[in-house]
Amino acid sequence: MAAKTAIVTGSSGLIGSEMVTFLDERGWSVHGIDNNMRRNFVGEHGDTTWNLVRLRGETTRFEHHDLDIRDRDEMLRLFREHRPGLVVHCAAQPSHDIAASRPFDDFEINALATLNLLEGARQWTPDSPFIFLSTNKVYGDAPNELELVELETRWDYADPAMWEGIDESMRIDATMHSVFGASKVAADVMVQEYGRYFELPTVCFRGGCLTGPHHSGAELHGFLAYLARAIRDESTYRVFGYKGKQVRDNIHSFDVCTAVMAFAERPRLAAVYNLGGGRVNSCSVLEAISALEELSGRRLDTQYVDQARRGDHICYITDLRRFRADYPEWELSISLAEIYEQLAHLPETV
Ligand SMILES: NC(=O)c1ccc[n+]([C@@H]2O[C@H](COP(=O)([O-])OP(=O)(O)OC[C@H]3O[C@@H](n4cnc5c(N)ncnc54)[C@H](O)[C@@H]3O)[C@@H](O)[C@H]2O)c1
Repeated sequence: MAAKTAIVTGSSGLIGSEMVTFLDERGWSVHGIDNNMRRNFVGEHGDTTWNLVRLRGETTRFEHHDLDIRDRDEMLRLFREHRPGLVVHCAAQPSHDIAASRPFDDFEINALATLNLLEGARQWTPDSPFIFLSTNKVYGDAPNELELVELETRWDYADPAMWEGIDESMRIDATMHSVFGASKVAADVMVQEYGRYFELPTVCFRGGCLTGPHHSGAELHGFLAYLARAIRDESTYRVFGYKGKQVRDNIHSFDVCTAVMAFAERPRLAAVYNLGGGRVNSCSVLEAISALEELSGRRLDTQYVDQARRGDHICYITDLRRFRADYPEWELSISLAEIYEQLAHLPETV
């Protein structure tokens, strides 16, 4: 096993690209896998070529592989040839709507291709930490069963005991996940199984809203980045249901990387953690719009669509206590105000 060699899938995407620079700066050789499938899925706003160009310019030991993670032979070959000391699996089909119209692509990428990578790890690097970017959508719409109160600009949990948000005991069955959520559940459970059954050091990070300036935000995925771009480009932003008071918690991609490294340095078997910005980094759509409008000095043209997206969370705040208990050295380092600041000044290339 090559101690400081990593495989990062989805390396031109938001989390993958942050992971590449993060590791490169710390002396790792990174093999990134990305075939710009995001463009194919979400259209030209999802094109990640700019991000790949940026990575090539900013890194010293990064090697890009324009491969599809569904290509089992190629994935096994990469593991055999490079024997990574760390695997960070970020490639995914990210959208609920696309999953519904292209269910085979969705399942083959999110679920089946995850198995390709797990097998590569089991066959060639069974001791290396295997990090999977899962999602809070594995809980489906079960969080919507919690009693809520309507405040002026947001929904919130009625029960004070829910102040910290949703923890890992939220059920994942008997809930509507969307086709996307279901394919991620399949991968999440398989990643856990490779941890339990084969004793690989695996973790599923069930993400809230992951964000940052390197997101190729699109209407179908990438809430804050897309919103910031709509303000910059003076395009119309559609708000889907819940009066715009739906709540998301936001974590900067850099803080995702520090969580990944905390786990990589002290891995466990079959770990599962919710990972998000928590209450301090939570906002509703209405709150995000007004914060970004204020920072940019521009008004956003919004259109309200009465119909909420199917299965969309009304109020989702990540309870970070399990991760914090196991990795007390980890902390959120980028506040929501800083996230807004970065997004309000996106360069024209994004
Ligand atoms: N961004 C969020 O808000 C969020 C929230 C929860 C969970 N997640 C999860 O985190 C992970 C990373 O998300 P992200 O925001 O960086 O996504 P992203 O869409 O920005 O990046 C994913 C990358 O994977 C690539 N990709 C897709 N299919 C591929 C394939 N078949 N072969 C090779 N490359 C492929 C895409 O081109 C893209 O660059 C995903 O697994 C996602 O489900 C994201």
